[in-house]
Amino acid sequence: MPDLIKVLIVDDIPSTLDNLQKLLSFEPDIQVVGTGANGKEGVEQAKKLAPDIVLMDVNMPVVDGIQATETLAQEVPGSPVIIMSVQGERDYLRRAMQSGAREFLIKPFSGDELIASIRRVYQLEQKKESFLQKTSGQAAGPVAAAPTDGESVRRGEHGQVYFFYSGKGGVGKSLIAANLAVSMANETKAKVALVDLDLQFGDIGVLLNLDHSQGITDLIENIDHMDQEFIREIMVDGPFGIKVLLTPISPELADLVTVDHIRRIFSELRKMFDYIIVDSSCHLGEINLEVLDHADKVVVVTSLSIPAIKNTKLALKIFDSLSISPDRVVLLLNKSDAHSEFNKESVEANLRFPIAGQIPNDAKLVINSVNRGNPFVTTHPESEISQRIRELVGKLIPPAPVPAADAETADRKPRKGLFARR
Ligand SMILES: Nc1ncnc2c1ncn2[C@@H]1O[C@H](COP(=O)(O)OP(=O)(O)OP(=O)(O)O)[C@@H](O)[C@H]1O
Ligand SMILES: [Mg+2]
Repeated sequence: MPDLIKVLIVDDIPSTLDNLQKLLSFEPDIQVVGTGANGKEGVEQAKKLAPDIVLMDVNMPVVDGIQATETLAQEVPGSPVIIMSVQGERDYLRRAMQSGAREFLIKPFSGDELIASIRRVYQLEQKKESFLQKTSGQAAGPVAAAPTDGESVRRGEHGQVYFFYSGKGGVGKSLIAANLAVSMANETKAKVALVDLDLQFGDIGVLLNLDHSQGITDLIENIDHMDQEFIREIMVDGPFGIKVLLTPISPELADLVTVDHIRRIFSELRKMFDYIIVDSSCHLGEINLEVLDHADKVVVVTSLSIPAIKNTKLALKIFDSLSISPDRVVLLLNKSDAHSEFNKESVEANLRFPIAGQIPNDAKLVINSVNRGNPFVTTHPESEISQRIRELVGKLIPPAPVPAADAETADRKPRKGLFARR
């Protein structure tokens, strides 16, 4: 018989508390150990009862659910929180995600959804605990906080972070991110990192034919001793000197990566590299939101299909509600010449957002490049698709202004600067 999952329910509406209690009473592996009528009571009860899961409403008197979740994350980290919010509380989404909640249920939700969510969070917590015990030889506890001021992850302080995102999968994020990173290193001779944050099913390793015997999990196993030398060791060498941080070697390890790990890793990467290209998955979970928030540019990839355009529209709307300035968003149209009833203009009109770059469809070259793990920008630098990638490099990194004193001579000399081709 498995252990009982002890659940604490926090909600200010007595009938909701009642209903949830009744619903959970039918589950043989779940036991409601207590209830709270507001965030303050919730925190007090959690300290007393040490539940395995806290179900937390958002809008409550005295202390709201978000604040209570923040307190629990600090003070009772062994009691993970599932937030229950109603639609229309979207403004809370960002804060809720940042407060440390593990999952979100949008009311009204079904009993099956609730129970699945409780079991999932519980199992993940168990897995984390045994992982931490195995790797550090210590009891599980909160991972030490990111560099204390939390400021070192701020935008613009060090290397630039370019975050690749799409609302729809399969539109070409990974392919473009990998080729862009290689092209950027070749064109600028700068220090370029490529980070695969599609943590479960990332394929940067395959796209660049890299040895995937280590990845981000090796960093988090040793997060408290992580220094730049160690990061360099874990990153894999790619073409033109780029360094690649690969995904965990197995998908189930992806859940072990936390926002705090990401903060700490990026804080170091910014010090080590000039440019950090990040590939991602479409899921807008807390890790993607963290990088989105701090990225210097968010490169949104879309294509000429209704699902891709629809999801890009949704993504742009979410960015807007997260106060991500349009200046930071670079919209790319991939397979821009594919046969479609849409074109650049109609996509721009629909999204009400300018397309900054277009990447052509080149099925033959791309499939060869992907299957061999050779980026096309290195094997076919003169193909149109490679030229468009180089243009994108130029857009993301505008050439440094020429100092006034040099301007005259620079006009006469052939450009050998940032974008001189070899
Ligand atoms: N410009 C292009 N021309 C031809 N084929 C392309 C082009 N861009 C992408 N593809 C093909 O589309 C497929 C999906 O690309 P990719 O894996 O980069 O997408 P993704 O957005 O990263 O997907 P996911 O969300 O699943 O990670 C690849 O197999 C690639 O071969
Ligand atoms: Mg991908």
